[in-house]
Amino acid sequence: MRHFLTLDDFTKEELIEILNIAFDIKAEVKNGVINHRMKDKSLAMIFEKSSTRTRVSFEVGMTQLGGHALFLSSRDTQLGRGEPVKDTARVISRMVDMVMIRTFKQKSVKEFAAYSKVPVINGLTDEFHPVQLMADYMTMIEYSKADNAKVAYIGDGNNMAHSWLMLSSKMGFELSIATPKGYEVDENILSRALENARTSGAKITITNDPKATVKDADVVTTDTWASMGQEDEKKQRELDFKGFEVDSSLMDLAKKDAIFLHCLPAYRGQEVSEEVLESPQSVIFDEAENRLHAQKGIMVWLDKHRS
Ligand code: CP
Ligand code: NVA
Repeated sequence: MRHFLTLDDFTKEELIEILNIAFDIKAEVKNGVINHRMKDKSLAMIFEKSSTRTRVSFEVGMTQLGGHALFLSSRDTQLGRGEPVKDTARVISRMVDMVMIRTFKQKSVKEFAAYSKVPVINGLTDEFHPVQLMADYMTMIEYSKADNAKVAYIGDGNNMAHSWLMLSSKMGFELSIATPKGYEVDENILSRALENARTSGAKITITNDPKATVKDADVVTTDTWASMGQEDEKKQRELDFKGFEVDSSLMDLAKKDAIFLHCLPAYRGQEVSEEVLESPQSVIFDEAENRLHAQKGIMVWLDKHRS
């Protein structure tokens, strides 16, 4: 049995296999073809943090696959009152066919998976957001930006930056990351990515210079300066991230036909300007829609690989 906890758990070939399923399902839905690949199966969705896209896409995705999704917020379940993860995992996984968790520590999803009888999907932790990157890569493919692409990530060395490191190092495309000083990516995750890059041929550079990073990029992306759980640091971060807004002058340094991606929610006038967000180069809503298709691909693949 396999879990989807980080992109690092998968080979490039497996990630492509998942994306191919996602593209097939997307085409089917667009052509009005109903194919209940997970008929009568249940997905438990455990949320310890807020969500719009992740909740809607997993829930609707499961419905479209002929199954059912349960929304479980930690506020309303015993998990929020201190029931151990290992007990919750053993109870829930006896009742459902798959589990998606959005929580704080990567350690918690790992622990859940270790005790679970069914596949577990990471719906975002402080360290990684792997399902988002599957949608992002789908969008890159659709805009012909996947092969020999340079991706520029400007902003916080957070879960999105870490996931870009994993994606690039697995798929072999160039990635340049610019963070403010003091907000660099995690060193262990970077080492892991550099190790993968030796096989995939990915070129990875880390800087504190947004301009150098964006130069000649095919894809420009960013993320919120204060992630969920960092609300108290918002004011300080706004000061520290000065000069890291993706605005038109920065976008102009990328290739003319570069696309702009953002996992959303976006904060206009902070990590990205209104002008860039609303420009024709911005494909953020195609990206958001691809969450639905990519995650169906992930669920179907995991279901197929259950022994
Ligand atoms: N991008 C993303 O995961 O959005 P939500 O927080 O709305 O789920
Ligand atoms: N880095 C952001 C991503 C939100 C989808 C966060 O963790 O809040």
